[in-house]
This record gives sequence, C-alpha cells and structure tokens, in this order.
Amino acid sequence: MLSIAFLLFALVSAKYIIPGGRWYDTSGSILNAHAGCIVLSNGTFWLFGEYKTQGQIEGGGIAVYSSPDLATWTPHGLALTPVAGHSYISPENIIQRPKVVWSEESRKWHMHWHADNAAYGLLLQGLAESSRIQGPYTFVRATTPLGNWSQDFGLFTDYKSHKSYSLYSNGDRKEARDVYITAYDNSNSNLTSIVHRFPKYDLEAPTVLQTDSSYFALMSHKTGYRPNNVVAFRADHLSGPWSQPYFIAPPYTRTYNSQSGFTLRIAGTQATTHLYIGDQWDSNSLWESRYIWLPLTIGTTASGTERVGLEWHDVYDLDVRTGVVRGVNGTAYYAADAEVAGDAELQEATFTATGVIATGIAGNSSTVTFGGVQGSGGEQWVSFYYQNTDDMGFGDQPGGSPDRVGGAWALRRISGVVVNGRGEEVQTLYQRDTHKGVVLSAPLKLRLEKGANRITVGGLWNGVDVKGADLDRIVVYPVEEG
Ligand SMILES: *[C@@H]1O[C@H](CO)[C@@H](O)[C@H](O)[C@H]1NC(C)=O
Ligand SMILES: *[C@@H]1O[C@H](CO)[C@@H](O)[C@H](O)[C@H]1NC(C)=O
Ligand SMILES: *[C@@H]1O[C@H](CO)[C@@H](O)[C@H](O)[C@H]1NC(C)=O
Ligand SMILES: *[C@@H]1O[C@H](CO)[C@@H](O)[C@H](O)[C@H]1NC(C)=O
Ligand SMILES: *[C@@H]1O[C@H](CO)[C@@H](O)[C@H](O)[C@H]1NC(C)=O
Repeated sequence: MLSIAFLLFALVSAKYIIPGGRWYDTSGSILNAHAGCIVLSNGTFWLFGEYKTQGQIEGGGIAVYSSPDLATWTPHGLALTPVAGHSYISPENIIQRPKVVWSEESRKWHMHWHADNAAYGLLLQGLAESSRIQGPYTFVRATTPLGNWSQDFGLFTDYKSHKSYSLYSNGDRKEARDVYITAYDNSNSNLTSIVHRFPKYDLEAPTVLQTDSSYFALMSHKTGYRPNNVVAFRADHLSGPWSQPYFIAPPYTRTYNSQSGFTLRIAGTQATTHLYIGDQWDSNSLWESRYIWLPLTIGTTASGTERVGLEWHDVYDLDVRTGVVRGVNGTAYYAADAEVAGDAELQEATFTATGVIATGIAGNSSTVTFGGVQGSGGEQWVSFYYQNTDDMGFGDQPGGSPDRVGGAWALRRISGVVVNGRGEEVQTLYQRDTHKGVVLSAPLKLRLEKGANRITVGGLWNGVDVKGADLDRIVVYPVEEG
C-alpha cells in the first residue's frame, strides 16, 4: 500500500522542474551531467554533461541521460569514457562542456568539447563520434580552432539553415579574451571560417539562441566558479552587427546564482520556449553542483527590438509537446509570523514584503519555526527565501574579499531544516551568497504530514561558522495534480 502510494506520487510529481534542487535520475542517483547540452532526437531528449565525483571532479568522462519530458531522466552511463594514458581523454585531462550534433554527411553523431590538460595549457576542441546517440563515442582528434586557442566551448545549430557553429572563448591570456562564432563544414567535423569575434569582452560559457528574427548570444563574465551577471548580445545575423551586452536577470542576483552554457529551443504546438540550461557551480563541492534551468522570455522594447530575459520560477511545469511553461503557485509562510528562538530575531528589512527578516539563525537553538504549514501527506518542494550577505567578506580581509568568512572560502551558509521535530531527518539547505538586500530562494524536498506541520530552520557548520542565512519566508508547493 505504502509503496503504491509512493510510486503514484513519483509518477504524478515527475514533471516539475525545480531549479537548484537536488535532482535524481530514475535509478535514484544524483543527476550527474554538468555544463551539459540537450539534443532532441526522435521524440527523446538526450542530456550530455561532465561526470564528476568527489574523488574526481575533472576527467571523469561524459555522462548521458534520456528523457521524454525534460524532468525524468534515465541514465545510460558514460557516452565518452576516459582512457588511461590517452593524450586527450585520460582521467588526468580536462573533458569539459560537451556538445553533440548529428552529421548527415558521416551518418554519425559528433561530440565536440573543450579538450585540455590539467593545467589548461592545450586549449583544444575534441571530436568523438558514434553511430548511436547515446554512444559509446570514439575519440577522433583534438585540434586548435583555425589555429587559435579554445577554452569554454559551445555549439549552435541554426534552425533555418541547419548549419552548425562552434562557440568558444579563446582563454584568459592578455592576447586572447575574445569569444568566437566559427562555422563548421557540412559534416560538422572541421571548422571553416570565423563568422564573428566578440573582441576583448573577456567573457566565457557562450551559448546562442535564435528566434524568428534575432540571434542572442549569452555569456558569463569570468569569475571562476562564482556566478556573475550573465549578459546577452542581439543581432539580426550571426555575423553581426551585435548589440551592446546587457544583463539577462535582475542585477546582483548573479543570474540567480548560475552560469550560462547552453540553451534549448522547444518548438511546441502552442509556443516556442527557449530554456536556459545553466550551472549552479559549488566550488566547495563541484561534484554536487546543481542545475538552473529556466525559461527565457523574449520581449520587445518600445523601439521594437527583441530583448531576452530570464524568468525565475521556484517550481514549473514545461509541456514539451505544447511548449507551454506553467508556473506552479505555492503557499507562503512569512518569518514575520514564525516563532524565533535563542539569538534568532526579526530585524527591520525594507526589501521584504513584511518589512522584516529573521536573522541570527545559528546552530540548534537559534532557530525560526514556521507553524501551521499545510501539507498533503507526502514529499513536497519547499522554497526557502533567504539573504546571505557574506559576499563582501568580513573586516579581517583587506579591502573585503568576496566570499570569505574569517579568511576561508565560504560561498554559502548552510541551514539545517527539521520537520515536526524529526531531528534525525535534518535536511541540509545550501544558501549561496546574495548581495545585501537581495532575496533569492533555495529548494528542498520535505516529507510533510497531511494537515499542519512545523518546519524549524537552524544553522549548520559550513566549515567556518554555524550560521544559516537570514530568512524572509518559505513557500510550500503542491504535489502535482494527476
Ligand atoms: C524512433 O523511435 C521509434 C519508436 O521508438 C523507433 O521505432 C525508430 O527506430 C526510431 N528511429 C530512429 C531514427 O531512432
Ligand atoms: C586568434 O586569436 C587572436 C586574439 O583574439 C586573434 O588576434 C587572431 O586573429 C586569432 N587567429 C585566428 C586564426 O583566428
Ligand atoms: C578534418 O581535418 C582533419 C585534419 O585535422 C582531416 O584529416 C579530415 O579529413 C578533415 N575532415 C573533413 C571532413 O574535411
Ligand atoms: C498563480 O497566482 C497568480 C497570482 O495570484 C494567478 O494570477 C495565477 O493564475 C496562478 N496560477 C495558477 C496556475 O494557479
Ligand atoms: C545539532 O544537533 C545535532 C544532533 O541532533 C548535532 O549532531 C549537531 O552537532 C548540533 N549542532 C550544533 C551546532 O549544536
């Protein structure tokens, strides 16, 4: 009885996409495909990405998953397996940002990626091929793109001309710091000519998306694994002229704590949706970095120019057949109405809806408890709206170094979340830094009883401190209607 109920729940709730959540594949393992790409083939979506484990964050090969709906993912192992002693795909190599494209001429799937040594001294593009989309892929070669360097790698296929293009930043050297759009030959094997160079913007992680009348190039700044404000350029033609760049998400959200890398176009029966496939890198534990997938909105300025933006949803449902994105509404519970204990307190904060925020959340005794939280009796997504002001560092750092608390990299506070006093089931909530006065949300899947629940938030050790971030509210999402 219990397992049937659980199975039903798993089936009906499978379609939600929860940016920043812990995503599991159909075998129950954490989804492990970083800096990935998604290819639609014959009605199935295929996700390729860097496979990372705690012991091996680079050179782990390329994982592949399949999905009918972009929300349930079946693992198919490694599409590209590292080969010991190999010059380019050994476990000691960098095998990053894979992109997969069909080659009509060779009747094979081609995988291209950023191929490098551990010191990022080669700056090459790799090519591997397979007759089946899920692989296994066989290494062909690693080359310089028309004699240049190549670091963060992307690939774009024009849906009108069906031509494909290599996108790459040419690295961090002073002579470089460009991003290139370069055309492939008809077999999507070799590069033929540079279509555009974005000169000296010093950007990386490029991706291009296309509407009926525009091309948008999205790229991030270079701040390592710390997220920043991703920018977009617009043009009528891939060769330009390209517009000035601008932020795609509200300033200071650091693109909702994510980095660009890929976009997926879903041409549905009712709408065409462009999905931003971003990475929420966690430099403290790269192997468990999360994913920020969100719909991009294409608006028009007063002068009639198309403009792209990123739209936040805690939870949404994307119908891949119709192309329609449906935001899911939850029920909010405010810290202003919650019980604070120990040194936790409400502090004036004009940037929240209630004018206060709960601060001083730490350890097991300085907590905030939300009472009367209505549950459906099962696992539900709950979003925690928080502020983490560690971004400017503490006074002991000359000039205030970002993300340092007491001299150590922090990047995130960690809260412990306990439902109905079940202390043995404490859940770990990572709360990455925001700016001061910027409230972002982080999701957790919690087991709620039917009826009223108590959700208690304390602070867990993050390597430096036991403080949780400041809390504005929580939002509880329904299990999906059948
Ligand atoms: C497409 O899917 C159908 C149904 O699963 C299958 O019979 C067919 O072989 C597939 N075609 C290709 C090209 O993979
Ligand atoms: C390589 O990159 C440098 C710096 O961007 C540029 O000046 C040069 O023209 C590029 N060479 C080729 C062949 O693309
Ligand atoms: C691509 O370039 C390689 C050399 O780097 C060459 O051996 C190969 O024939 C080329 N392929 C095509 C389709 O031109
Ligand atoms: C969610 O809430 C908004 C604002 O109250 C409302 O306009 C919208 O229709 C709701 N959406 C759903 C799917 O219930
Ligand atoms: C909180 O309680 C747990 C056990 O419930 C314990 O392991 C942990 O050390 C406590 N943390 C603090 C900061 O006291």
